[in-house]
Amino acid sequence: MKRLEQNQTPAESRALQLLRALGSPARLRIVEIVAERKDCTAAQLAVEVGLAQSSLFEHLAALRDAGIVEVSGDGPNHYYGLDPSVLDSLAAYLGGIGGRTRGWPSPAGAGPNGSIIIRDATLDDAPAIARIYNQGIEDRTATLETQLRSAEERAEWLVAHDERHPVLLAVDPAGAALGWCSLNRFNPRAAYDHVADISVFVARESRGRGVGDAMLTGLEGRARALAYHKMVLAAFPTNLPGVRLYQRHGFLTVGTYHEQGMLEGRWVDVVVMEKILG
Ligand SMILES: CC(C)(COP(=O)(O)OP(=O)(O)OC[C@H]1O[C@@H](n2cnc3c(N)ncnc32)[C@H](O)[C@@H]1OP(=O)(O)O)[C@@H](O)C(=O)NCCC(=O)NCCS
Repeated sequence: MKRLEQNQTPAESRALQLLRALGSPARLRIVEIVAERKDCTAAQLAVEVGLAQSSLFEHLAALRDAGIVEVSGDGPNHYYGLDPSVLDSLAAYLGGIGGRTRGWPSPAGAGPNGSIIIRDATLDDAPAIARIYNQGIEDRTATLETQLRSAEERAEWLVAHDERHPVLLAVDPAGAALGWCSLNRFNPRAAYDHVADISVFVARESRGRGVGDAMLTGLEGRARALAYHKMVLAAFPTNLPGVRLYQRHGFLTVGTYHEQGMLEGRWVDVVVMEKILG
């Protein structure tokens, strides 16, 4: 263990320092609150996290030592804030590890039958696409769309997707559909021609097995081949598998539309993310 610590690269020891600082539910919560609010005081934090001030100050000290949380103001008026570049550096370090895995010739994620094939969707795939999309709509965790789709409607949708806006299907070796994804027109104005909006939907029974990962890799490859400059998307911040997937593929958060939609009688926020392809 000692030898491992001595042989750490600066990047490894910095990542470890940050992970240790973030590695408690209270500290993670503090970071989330401080990220949400400008000029947060210790008193506000203590109330929101539900901690005694003494315990809160211990956590804040650990976060400040790691450079994650910064303090400003004098005397009793101390305000806490975040240095986003510190969290970005941790995300980049972890993303780099994931990136090396993605460079392997076969997809790292094992599909239900060991492999995932990504191919262009055809009109015959309309029923499978409708089924998978309707699961996503019914779950209410992925989209503000609430109207279920028929195979016929999806067939029309497929026809409307020209070569620059492909729909891809993930299938297992036996040809069963696991998910679909697409490059959609972001905005009809010509100035936006180099921006693609994306959709990614995995069948309920196939989620969490790397299908989304394989599809996003395929979709980005197609977007690059079509010379898109960037990909954008809108997701619910509560959609952890989705947000995690996009972050791992290098999407950065542009911002949050607060109370952007009404689903099941409740306001929902929508987070906008982008990836510049360069
Ligand atoms: C979101 C979705 C596309 C992700 O695809 P997937 O095939 O299920 O995800 P993957 O197996 O490729 O895993 C993606 C990441 O999410 C993580 N993840 C999976 N399930 C999770 C969960 N329940 N909670 C938190 N993270 C989760 C995985 O661990 C993985 O991250 P990692 O590689 O760092 O471990 C898929 O779940 C889905 O289609 N959901 C319904 C529709 C939807 O939400 N679409 C996106 C709209 S923005």
